[in-house]
Amino acid sequence: MTNKADYSSLKASEDIKERLQEEFPTLISLAASPPDEIVRRCEINRSTAERLVNQARKLLGKAEPITAAELLEQRLAKPRITTSSQQLDEILGGGVAVGAITEFSGAFSTGKTQLAFQLCINVQRSFDEGGLEGTALFIDTENTFSPARVAEMSYSFTSEPKEILKKIFVSRAYNADHQVQIVQKSDKLIRSNDVKLIVVDSMASHFRAEFPGKDNLPRRQQMLMAHAEVLQRLAEAYDLAVMTTNQILSNPDSLLSNNIEPALGFAWGHRPTHRILLRKSRGTTRIARIFDSPELAEREAVFHITAQGIRDGPPLDY
Ligand code: GTP
Ligand code: MG
Repeated sequence: MTNKADYSSLKASEDIKERLQEEFPTLISLAASPPDEIVRRCEINRSTAERLVNQARKLLGKAEPITAAELLEQRLAKPRITTSSQQLDEILGGGVAVGAITEFSGAFSTGKTQLAFQLCINVQRSFDEGGLEGTALFIDTENTFSPARVAEMSYSFTSEPKEILKKIFVSRAYNADHQVQIVQKSDKLIRSNDVKLIVVDSMASHFRAEFPGKDNLPRRQQMLMAHAEVLQRLAEAYDLAVMTTNQILSNPDSLLSNNIEPALGFAWGHRPTHRILLRKSRGTTRIARIFDSPELAEREAVFHITAQGIRDGPPLDY
């Protein structure tokens, strides 16, 4: 069954449909939402919410299991966003996946933000060029989004970088609560602008600053989990890629090399589908290593941060 069903197929009063559509613009986002959230956001009773969610799942053909063979076919058919480094694309299975959260962790200057900029450009490119012909939503928690740098990187593909900048929606998140809210309210923006990439750069900064110490941990984890759930739901509902960045911590007991591990702890650690650790090498060289993914092997790729952006080879002037 296809995903073409929409609100017109839903059996409910026009008033309820209108309220639902206001908060959950597509049937897919309704089908993926917990009934309690629908009750809260649309002010309808719980049994109606449950009934409509079930109906939406049936209409979309998501109520019954599918075979693993069908799942594989669906996954292989999904396009990916190129990173502009063939080596990095290769270890990622062709690029950054849609329908999933991909996390890049690393110390300062390892290239997390540069990679995010590159993806914001590349998501706009044609399918043949490794893009998704969509737009990007960049959630900036550290005030490091640089339109000038993105424009500089865009010149490789266009003489009109402004056209690229027009398709990147930047939301400055001032605190953890704001960060969560931006994502929660992004349905409409995603739908009306064909957003195919959400960047959260970084996932960690507000949460670590606002919830220090062990006493605050349960609250922090709870909020992070809810945040991650919405991101994952958007990724699946709209077939878009979510790229998050994370800081690292030193931990002598770390299971990773070099006594380091990504911040935000175990609970968050289970949320991204693919986790990649970035580290610095000489000059502009960076090394990416997949360390946690259900379908990607633990492999390393070398890439460079050049004036033009992320590339395989070192810059010519280096
Ligand atoms: P934090 O946010 O501090 O944790 O670091 P990050 O991992 O986000 O680092 P970022 O992506 O900002 O990478 C910084 C590195 O990118 C710098 O050390 C430079 O090597 C490179 N870089 C940043 N801007 C430019 C630029 O305009 N031109 C070139 N050639 N390289 C740049
Ligand atoms: Mg950064």
